[in-house]
Amino acid sequence: MKKHIKIAPSLLSCDFGRIKEEIALIESTDAAILHLDVMDGHFVPNLTFGAPIIKYIKKYAKLPLDVHLMVTNPNDFVQPLADIGVDYLSFHTETEYHADRLIHHIKNNKMKAGIVLNPATHHNTIEYLADIIDFVLVMSVNPGFGGQSFINNSLQKIARINDYRELNNHSFEIEVDGGVNDKIAPLLVEAGADILVAGSYIFNSDNYAEKVRSLM
Ligand code: DX5
Ligand code: ZN
Repeated sequence: MKKHIKIAPSLLSCDFGRIKEEIALIESTDAAILHLDVMDGHFVPNLTFGAPIIKYIKKYAKLPLDVHLMVTNPNDFVQPLADIGVDYLSFHTETEYHADRLIHHIKNNKMKAGIVLNPATHHNTIEYLADIIDFVLVMSVNPGFGGQSFINNSLQKIARINDYRELNNHSFEIEVDGGVNDKIAPLLVEAGADILVAGSYIFNSDNYAEKVRSLM
């Protein structure tokens, strides 16, 4: 049986001037999750949006919200995002001295907790967190911008995380973010990915449904 893969369109590449219509359009496809990129202009050079805009997105969205924090103070975002009703919340391990504590804080606020690995971050970073995380987000581009090319060694990293997960009977999900398209998607699934984020591949087209399906 073909593995069930969840597609998470990244709204970073949508038309924010028509956000309500964009959400309705993307929710009429087979997408499973909405991926939201919070950037602070410090951890990454780009600046996007925070809780006030996510609150507005939540008003129109029915799908679960997956917030990817690219900020130097992830802890400050937990309570506001929990209050809005965010479902998945992930942060970069480089941004937090006390990753174990932050994961518990996220889970105590009834959200799924994930850690994000930059392209240069070793896969074994997850080892002492594997019992408590709900998911790991493998960055397959350097964070900060949509529309970049997939970094090929991410495939090996995903496969190693998947092997580690199987060997130790862990249940966390593996999400991949950056440069995902229909050519790379089957390789990612084969390597062990469960959730595929895609921004420009979907939103730079005039048929979102077809693009989403092509990744499954
Ligand atoms: C990059 C973001 C991604 C981005 C992916 O820092 O984390 O979620 O939107 O965009 P594409 O799919 O265009 O690489
Ligand atoms: Zn992202």
